[in-house]
Amino acid sequence: MSVYLDHAATSHPKPEAVLDAVRAALTEYNANPGRAGHPRALRAGREILEARAALAALMGAKDAMSVVFAFNCTDALNLAVKGALRVGDHVVATQLEHNSVLRPLCGLAARGRITLTLVKPRPDGFVDPDDVEHALTGRTALIACTHASNVTGAIQPVAAIGQVARRRGIRYLIDGAQALGGMPVDVEALGCDLYAFPGHKSLLGPQGTGGLYVRPGVTLFPQREGGTGSASDSMLQPAELPERYEAGTLNLPGIAGLGAGVKHVAPRLSQIMSRERELTGALMEGLADVDGVTLYSPREEAARAGIVAFNVGDLPSAQAADALARRGFDVRGGLHCAPGAHRFLGTLERGAVRASVGHETTFEEVEGFVEAVREMGRE
Ligand SMILES: Cc1ncc(COP(=O)(O)O)c(C=O)c1O
Repeated sequence: MSVYLDHAATSHPKPEAVLDAVRAALTEYNANPGRAGHPRALRAGREILEARAALAALMGAKDAMSVVFAFNCTDALNLAVKGALRVGDHVVATQLEHNSVLRPLCGLAARGRITLTLVKPRPDGFVDPDDVEHALTGRTALIACTHASNVTGAIQPVAAIGQVARRRGIRYLIDGAQALGGMPVDVEALGCDLYAFPGHKSLLGPQGTGGLYVRPGVTLFPQREGGTGSASDSMLQPAELPERYEAGTLNLPGIAGLGAGVKHVAPRLSQIMSRERELTGALMEGLADVDGVTLYSPREEAARAGIVAFNVGDLPSAQAADALARRGFDVRGGLHCAPGAHRFLGTLERGAVRASVGHETTFEEVEGFVEAVREMGRE
């Protein structure tokens, strides 16, 4: 079997406990949570609540109800962006954002509904909170920033940007796709109003899961309205969380699996983080020693998530990723859905190879990968 180094896209393999939880949901209590009073429906409701509470605890959120389930991080980001903004608002985001932030924002801007400023990172790949503050106008209604770049792994100064947002009274959205489950996240300390996350990356849950933390007191326009199993006599979406943002049948097997993933990760978070840092450190060191390799990720371990981006000579990154796949290593080439980050790196044309480690990656696999890159460079 090939060595999987594409955890930034989605994690693999999932822990046994996740597989068991998905199976149990589908076989033991496959009912619609929050709708009926029979035992299966009640169990389904309890499992959903447990997953919500586990996520809230992991993020430092005081109220489990402030965690809203979504289909993935993109879905959560769409709710955050489109739910927060009104016609005429101005938004400050960064050039490092993933398309799941950029496209909703640029789409609104293209339709003339909002105006948008994208702040450039400093030459070292980190956004300067002062630059964010300087970009604010009297109409700025939202600041959006990625917690860690999905291209380089560079962890952004999200807490310092949070202080700017708090001081200026502006709503603040963090895209935690490459952070939650891989490093400590405390939504209070970060000063954010909205924190979007996928369930299927570092939280080790199944695909089709994700969510949004919504600070108590922050109200968004729902992006999906419909049945919730509550206040069914009303023709309007309930105002309460999480029902305000969760219409329709939830992804019970996915959320049960996600809950198991969170319970697997939470007690091991500091070990996972330090091991992934050491693994990326070994990757960076090994690749730095290969002729013709250009590295794009930060040198300092504590400043990056478990991601290393690089190119080899003049080789287009997609070709390099294919050549590495033939040698038994699953990595991703191309643009990683973040065109601004590639523009900043000067890799908009050929993209970059991204190797990303996970909870089961070994140092032997990292060494083997570096050797495969070396061999490929010699061809
Ligand atoms: C930084 C970032 N934001 C958002 C997303 C979108 O996540 P999802 O695939 O769960 O929608 C990704 C996925 O790779 C990402 O890396």
